[in-house]
Amino acid sequence: MEDTRQAAWWKEMAVYQIWPRSFCDGNGDGVGDLWGVLQKLDYIQKLGADAIWFSPLYPSPNADYGYDIADYKDISPDYGDLELFKEVLKQAHARGMKVFMDLVINHTSDEHAWFKASQESKGSPYHDYYYWRPGRRPGKAPNNWKSVFEGGAWEFSEKLQEYYLHVFAKKQPDLNMRNPAVREEVKSVMRFWLALGVDGFREDVITYIAKREGLPNGFPLPIGTGLEHYTSLPAVKDYLREFKDEVLAPAGAFTVGEAPMMTPTLAKEYITEGAGQLLNMMFHFQHMEADCFLTDWIPMPFRLKKLKRAFTRWQTELRGVAWNALYLENHDHPRIISRYGSEKYRVESGKMLAAAYLLQSGTPFIYQGQELGMTNQRLDSLEQFKDVVTFNNAKLFAKLGIKSERFLRIANRRSRENGRSPMQWSAAPNAGFCQGEPWFRVNPNYTEINAEAAEADTFSLLHWYRRMLAFRKGNPLVLYGEYTEHYKNSKHIYCYSRRREGSRLLVVCAFSEAPQRFCAPLGFDLLHATQLFGNYAPQIVQSNQFITRPYECRVYEWKDE
Ligand code: NOJ
Repeated sequence: MEDTRQAAWWKEMAVYQIWPRSFCDGNGDGVGDLWGVLQKLDYIQKLGADAIWFSPLYPSPNADYGYDIADYKDISPDYGDLELFKEVLKQAHARGMKVFMDLVINHTSDEHAWFKASQESKGSPYHDYYYWRPGRRPGKAPNNWKSVFEGGAWEFSEKLQEYYLHVFAKKQPDLNMRNPAVREEVKSVMRFWLALGVDGFREDVITYIAKREGLPNGFPLPIGTGLEHYTSLPAVKDYLREFKDEVLAPAGAFTVGEAPMMTPTLAKEYITEGAGQLLNMMFHFQHMEADCFLTDWIPMPFRLKKLKRAFTRWQTELRGVAWNALYLENHDHPRIISRYGSEKYRVESGKMLAAAYLLQSGTPFIYQGQELGMTNQRLDSLEQFKDVVTFNNAKLFAKLGIKSERFLRIANRRSRENGRSPMQWSAAPNAGFCQGEPWFRVNPNYTEINAEAAEADTFSLLHWYRRMLAFRKGNPLVLYGEYTEHYKNSKHIYCYSRRREGSRLLVVCAFSEAPQRFCAPLGFDLLHATQLFGNYAPQIVQSNQFITRPYECRVYEWKDE
């Protein structure tokens, strides 16, 4: 089928995600900041990124490290101030890079002025900014919902004798988007950043922003009870339409929405191109569940077939109608090499994983440190962790009778803090991330895994990412070519091809340490192909097959017909 979608800058870009607290400390307080970002803009540009997405930079008490916002129109003093942000924006733009902010509008911090005013009195105009409800009876929350992060979803105020709703942590009260005044505030926030010159937004849990009328009881679950009453309700689209028509479209702003439990069929209701489009693209989670059940915290053995099914489903179902957001890492997941690859074959498997997703159809997102092949770290005790989710799970797992040593092992593999250890810039103390005491432990493997070492080694992952992104850039075959998966049933090899106007690409990825025999699919003649990428020394191809080395990947190209 010929692809009728329009070319667009946001399809052709690659995005680098910065989680600011752990990126680079420029003022010596142990916390990453915008002074640090300024020092590293050249690094990001050299990687081949066309845009930066900043995880929240706003003032926040950090109950959820910035995803609990206390002021939407300012920069946290931890990171700098508005003037410094403007300088970062200017410098990024001067390098041809766009800047996207994280827009967290499902909830605020309980330290936001709106929330403080909302709990002053039931008569406050801010009271209806949030979901304040009386209990079903004394001592009983308004419904049975449980939060995703921290126990029950309702917190009681003695003063008001009412409960407020928090789908995430207690310090993250949910905004009542049904209230037009709240939507006006959201639009005002968007306008504020767009007026400064920001190019778009990553929209946090955007499919949660509408709650079912009457807030009925939910199906009982260990966490997240009630989610069927606040996930992807029809009103989400009404709100997004309003934001788009009134603010985002006139400004030409880019949007990517984060959407837990999203399927391609449902996603198309939001991202199908044309008049009805509400977001440019969506972050779904299906390919992040190949080694777990629903959440990272319920580990399962890695199953390549599950991963491939998710990849191919999104590639084929969006083909010709909508655009994919491609990612393997962000601040909410453990490191991908430690999950789907191999720490033993760190560089090899890291390269293979990069090829597995960067050459698909869609816009790639690269998370800080992914390009260096950073891995999970092993903390020695629960006290060293930082995240509300880990602490909540410690309690939940203890209730299930799981001993603390076992919990520590699970947390070390599965907590999202694995993705939040400070960026490893060099072999200097604290990985060159900061001068003083870092806010969070630096992974001790920084002496070996760091940007300076990667820069010096032309076979490093960093160079591989640069080469792949350079190859993708402006390449119509990678950007717009048709995607076909081969050998769907293989448990060890992910193989896909791209085709466009006589050019073809074949990507072969071995998710296996053990040797696998790979026979090129019918119509792909390796003897007459050019090998563009390989994570091992090239071998002379003597037939249309080869035996893979651990985590081998090869990319072949044909410019035929
Ligand atoms: C998704 C964000 O990516 C995550 O970090 C955050 O904890 C939740 N949304 C709540 O805002």
